[in-house]
Amino acid sequence: MNTASDILICRGVRSRYPDGTLALDAVDVSIKRGERVALIGPNGAGKSTLLRVLPGLQPFDGTVIVDGIVLSDKTQREVRQRIGLVFQNPDDQLFSPTIGEDVGFGPAAMGCSRTEVRERTASALAAMGLETLGPKNPLHLSFGERRRAAIATVLAMHPSLLAMDEPGSNLDPLHRRRLIAWLCEHEEYTLLLATHDLDMAAQTCDRVLLLSQHIVADGSARSILTDTALLTAHGLEPPLGLQELRFRGE
Ligand SMILES: Nc1ncnc2c1ncn2[C@@H]1O[C@H](COP(=O)(O)OP(=O)(O)OP(=O)(O)O)[C@@H](O)[C@H]1O
Ligand SMILES: [Mg+2]
Repeated sequence: MNTASDILICRGVRSRYPDGTLALDAVDVSIKRGERVALIGPNGAGKSTLLRVLPGLQPFDGTVIVDGIVLSDKTQREVRQRIGLVFQNPDDQLFSPTIGEDVGFGPAAMGCSRTEVRERTASALAAMGLETLGPKNPLHLSFGERRRAAIATVLAMHPSLLAMDEPGSNLDPLHRRRLIAWLCEHEEYTLLLATHDLDMAAQTCDRVLLLSQHIVADGSARSILTDTALLTAHGLEPPLGLQELRFRGE
C-alpha cells in the first residue's frame, strides 16, 4: 500500500464514551493529500466524534496516522499543528477577549513572528468577511458571526488537513454561499467536511464517506449523493432538487 501521499489513515478506530456509548466501531479510511472529502451520516452517526479523534481530543482504540505521524500522547502536539479542526459549536473555539486575538492565538502559539501573526490574522478574518469585527468580543457577535470567526481561527493556522464540523450551519444564505465559494477556490487544502448540507458536500467535495459508527459507503460524490436508496437506508434525506445538484468539477 502506498501511504506516502496519505495525509490521514484511520485503521480500526473505535471510540466509546464513559457512559458506554460506542460512537465509532472499526472506522477504516484513508485520505490522500489534496482530496476533498465530505463526511455524512444522520444525527449520532459519529461524525463529530471521528473529527475529534483526529487531533487527539477524543480517546480511541486503533491507529490514526496524520501526515505520516502516528497519533499518540507523545505526538499529539505535532499532529494538532497539522489538523485544523473547526468544532461543531463555535463557542468551543473562541476564548479570547477579541476575535482578532482568537485568530492570532494559533499562529503565535506555533511560533510565527509578530508580522506573520498580523498577516495571517488579517487574511483569515478577510476570508470570512470579518475585517471590521477583529476588535470585538466573541460574546458580542451573532452566532453566525462566531461560526465564521471560529473558521477564521483555523484558517490562520494553515493546516495540512482542514477538518470542518458543520461549518455551514447558522450561516445566512449569503455567507453559506461565500463559504462554499471560498472552499472551492482554495484547492490547496485537503478537506474533510462533516455536514448535513448535501448540496454543500456536492459543490465542495469529490468524495463522500457515509458514516454510521463505521464507514458504510465510500465513493464519488455523485455516486453516493444520488443513491437515494443508500441515503434513505441510513436515515438521510436525498437532497431536494437532486436533478439540479451541482457537483464540483462537473
Ligand atoms: N459526551 C458524550 N457522552 C456520551 N455519549 C456521547 C457524548 N457525545 C456524543 N455521544 C454519543 O455518541 C454518538 C455519536 O455522536 P456524535 O456527536 O459524534 O454524532 P454526529 O454524527 O456528530 O451527530 P450530529 O449530526 O447530531 O452532529 C451519539 O450516539 C451520541 O449520543
Ligand atoms: Mg456532530
